[in-house]
Amino acid sequence: MIGDATSAGDDSLRRGVVSRLSGQVGWPGVRHAGDAMRFPRTPDAVTDRINTRTYRARRVVRYYGSTSGWLDTGERVAMEFACSLGAGPPLLDIGVGGGRTVPLLQAISAEYVGIDYVPEMIEVARERFPGVDLCVMDARQLDFPDASFGFAAFTFNGLDSVSEQGRSIILSEVRRVLRPGGVFVFSALNHHGAVDRVLLTPPKPDSWQRPRRLARWSMQQLQTVMNLQRMRRLVREEADASIRPVRAHAGGLIGRYTSLARQCDELVRHGFKVAACLDPQGMPADPGGNHSTFAHFHYVARTDS
Ligand SMILES: C[S@@+](CC[C@H](N)C(=O)[O-])C[C@H]1O[C@@H](n2cnc3c(N)ncnc32)[C@H](O)[C@@H]1O
Repeated sequence: MIGDATSAGDDSLRRGVVSRLSGQVGWPGVRHAGDAMRFPRTPDAVTDRINTRTYRARRVVRYYGSTSGWLDTGERVAMEFACSLGAGPPLLDIGVGGGRTVPLLQAISAEYVGIDYVPEMIEVARERFPGVDLCVMDARQLDFPDASFGFAAFTFNGLDSVSEQGRSIILSEVRRVLRPGGVFVFSALNHHGAVDRVLLTPPKPDSWQRPRRLARWSMQQLQTVMNLQRMRRLVREEADASIRPVRAHAGGLIGRYTSLARQCDELVRHGFKVAACLDPQGMPADPGGNHSTFAHFHYVARTDS
């Protein structure tokens, strides 16, 4: 527990959040609900168009609005470890989605702010958690003063939803809004993981007796094939990173996959110290080990105190 449940929080920060709720915020091209989303043809914009379209889809918003609890043991252990480092409030929850992490992170800090660049996600999260400080904002343009948070989180591989350039901007922005000694916890897709390499899945054994389930599975496979076709020009493979469709949501997201070593280098380049890298079971990841069975890793990074 890093926060004081009775603490009133930093007034200037809170005023800032309230003013953002009424104003237009976000990265150019990302608009409030109801606005048509139009993007220029830069790599960032193409990635944004694909990923925000999927994140805005009703079934996807409904999915994130129904999840609860820790993603896996690794996420819980990463948060506990971050707390043990003495990360202080307030806490910034980036890419809050439908609110899965709201109660988990509020239990760590009562001074809590959640943001997401998809207005529909924020809408659902607000319905689930009325009164919680939640607003539409893009992580590439954090509308907070320097050094205003002690703890930042970007869970469930949300960081992998933006282009390489966007990712670098997000890391710089998180670094900027964290106080000296602040902690950043996030997960990132593993380039060497085998699971997301297979996007088409066999039907469940009993599907042949359940026509609706079979129809749903067939639609999902078709959608996946269409998405793979749509994204084929964006796919990039390097030795320690790749850009390719993500298995979730019928391959409707294009993600950046990074090796453990490259992710650690990236953190250091952006002024962080790597405090821990954990596999989904919460075990410290062995830098020289075989990483093929891990879909993602959890990272705990610190700014200099
Ligand atoms: C995989 S979902 C995870 C949602 C939630 N954190 C959870 O763990 O259930 C990733 C979330 O990150 C958000 N996201 C991705 N890129 C973002 C950005 N640049 N700024 C703000 N939110 C972003 C997406 O809209 C989505 O809601």
